[in-house]
Amino acid sequence: MGNTFGQLFRVTTFGESHGGGVGVVIDGCPPKIDISEAEIQRELDRRRPGQSKITTQRREEDRCESLSGVFAGKTLGTPIAILVRNKDAQPEDYAQLKTAFRPSHADFTYQTKYGIRNWQGGGRASARETVGRVAAGAVAKKILSILYSKFEMVAFVAQIHDVTAQVNRSIVKVKDVEKNTVRCPDAWAAKLMTSLIEQIRDEGDSVGGVIECVVRGIPTGLGEPVFDKLEADLAKAMLSLPATKGFEIGSGFAATRMRGSEHNDPFEMRGGKVRTATNNSGGVQGGISNGEEIYFRVAFKPTATIRHPQSTVTVSREQTKLTARGRHDPCVLPRAAPIVEAMAAIVLCDHALRQKAIGLLG
Ligand SMILES: Cc1cc2nc3c(=O)[nH]c(=O)nc-3n(C[C@H](O)[C@H](O)[C@H](O)COP(=O)(O)O)c2cc1C
Repeated sequence: MGNTFGQLFRVTTFGESHGGGVGVVIDGCPPKIDISEAEIQRELDRRRPGQSKITTQRREEDRCESLSGVFAGKTLGTPIAILVRNKDAQPEDYAQLKTAFRPSHADFTYQTKYGIRNWQGGGRASARETVGRVAAGAVAKKILSILYSKFEMVAFVAQIHDVTAQVNRSIVKVKDVEKNTVRCPDAWAAKLMTSLIEQIRDEGDSVGGVIECVVRGIPTGLGEPVFDKLEADLAKAMLSLPATKGFEIGSGFAATRMRGSEHNDPFEMRGGKVRTATNNSGGVQGGISNGEEIYFRVAFKPTATIRHPQSTVTVSREQTKLTARGRHDPCVLPRAAPIVEAMAAIVLCDHALRQKAIGLLG
């Protein structure tokens, strides 16, 4: 079963798009962490559907209810359960999906694997599942900011289809990202991206793109070779998100076109610390954080559900045409940035707790 993630900070999500609700159980959260529903809500609001004209028009308030594990504003060290009820379900929009498989969605694979599926709104494969991840990510971010005073994390839209942003990752802040609805800190590129998404939406089509995430203030030592290397767990976390198609850390695939003499990050002493002059490693070497900025990129595909007639087959194996209805994101990127942050925070928090448990004594 694959609904739980993490070793010490263990996150289990539950729920389907059109069921009673979605949420998370977090086990392994240390006690006496100050956390309020408002802090969790702030992150959920960044992920929420219907937040602008370029996202799905499903109207969900996504109000979180904390059911357990928190008392008088502090964590108890017991499992934290957070629930968000589904309010704006429109199952009738998806009636045709009861029988026909959407090309490149999860309908066919869920049906063949389980022999049954909730066809309303994508069921468990819907990005509504990520509500639980974002709630857990808010708690993880809180723990990281207590452990590491310089901790900062920013994910932003770096590319949509053929529009690429120019962003200085070393100085970008969350407030720069939140300045526009597309979540791209390059104002010029953001305008082009927004009109591209609007045009694509009006044509009933979809586009994908790239989210870049940078994490500052993580010390050396996080990551557990050999199978739980930091970049391996980050890659798994990112590729567990719906609609992801690629992950690269540091120089990533560009490293293949460089020589060792260009690519190596020379060591130097700076401020009494061992630092690297460049950061092609993306802050991870040998699977362990090296104290530099951790940065990585995640590729998202164009949304599978489009309002174009497409060839497909039915559950009873007949060839047919399908033109999707219902409310969909013409581009998932603007809502994906907070989800990428949440998964990165969950991975880093888990590894921070593991390093505390088994790292050097003193
Ligand atoms: C924030 C976000 C919103 C999404 N919204 C939609 C949507 O409206 N329609 C859709 O078909 N897919 C949407 N997806 C993607 C599907 O959930 C995903 O493509 C599907 O589950 C199949 O999984 P796969 O693409 O990972 O193979 C969204 C993904 C994310 C991250």
